[in-house]
Amino acid sequence: MRFKGKVIWITGASSGLGESMARAFNAEGANVILSARNVKELERVKNSFTNSDAQSIIIPFDVQKYNEAETIAQIAIKAFGRIDILVNNAGISQRSLAKDTSFKDELTVIEVDLIGTIALTKAVLTEIIKQKGQIVVISSVMGKINTKYRTAYAAAKHGVIGYFESLRLEMMEEGVNVLTILPGFIATNIVKNAIGTTYKITHNSQNNLGLQPDVFAKKALASIHKRKAYVYIGGYKEKMAMLLKRLSPSLFDKIIVNQKVT
Ligand SMILES: NC(=O)c1ccc[n+]([C@@H]2O[C@H](COP(=O)([O-])OP(=O)(O)OC[C@H]3O[C@@H](n4cnc5c(N)ncnc54)[C@H](OP(=O)(O)O)[C@@H]3O)[C@@H](O)[C@H]2O)c1
Repeated sequence: MRFKGKVIWITGASSGLGESMARAFNAEGANVILSARNVKELERVKNSFTNSDAQSIIIPFDVQKYNEAETIAQIAIKAFGRIDILVNNAGISQRSLAKDTSFKDELTVIEVDLIGTIALTKAVLTEIIKQKGQIVVISSVMGKINTKYRTAYAAAKHGVIGYFESLRLEMMEEGVNVLTILPGFIATNIVKNAIGTTYKITHNSQNNLGLQPDVFAKKALASIHKRKAYVYIGGYKEKMAMLLKRLSPSLFDKIIVNQKVT
């Protein structure tokens, strides 16, 4: 019961990592605010909660509508009278070359994964400072390396790291923890939901062989509880890719350019 009585707001709680983290927070006694666009799926997740002593509420929100972030944040704060932890998890990936992808689609990825995430964070920042709480953001290994088929996604996830690493330094003197999580391959619907994806790509994706989301959630909650700054959660291969990119960017390029990354 490490989070008993805490109020946690999770975006992208209708599927994958957000769903698993929401369930794990509920099991630990937290009051969970679940957000995403698909209300039916949010209800399914809420109905799967096992701890009936803790409360939960659904507040639908499309992160791409970032001009509404202030309004939705006020609604979320009023729901339980406070917010202790915001988990910025909502995201959409990409499985297409830049030359084959419309600007509109690339913009969607950047608006959901980066701009909306920043907007929501800024909208709750005063409240989080008041509670000396925590901001969690889900970036990606793709925030540290680059591959083909990920132009907008890599831009957004690199941007997330840049923004939240600076915010982390600013928040130190406020007593607020900012944690950036870098998942590797986790077996969720991310490939199915990506822009530019196909049945074949989804079917053959390496993500299906990745960590189970419940395993991810367990590790994520442990890092949140320890108020860590930065954590990688995933397999060995993705970790080695990040290391190689740092040690020898040119060798990394030679290897990654021929890798199957869809
Ligand atoms: N799975 C991986 O291998 C992996 C690796 C690295 C990073 N990540 C990151 O982990 C996070 C969660 O992804 P996942 O793997 O759990 O994928 P997922 O199963 O596709 O879930 C994505 C979640 O984001 C929500 N979402 C998408 N667009 C949204 C929007 N415009 N407004 C509000 N919510 C939106 C979806 O809900 P609705 O459709 O209901 O809105 C869903 O709940 C993402 O940020 C992703 O980039 C995942």
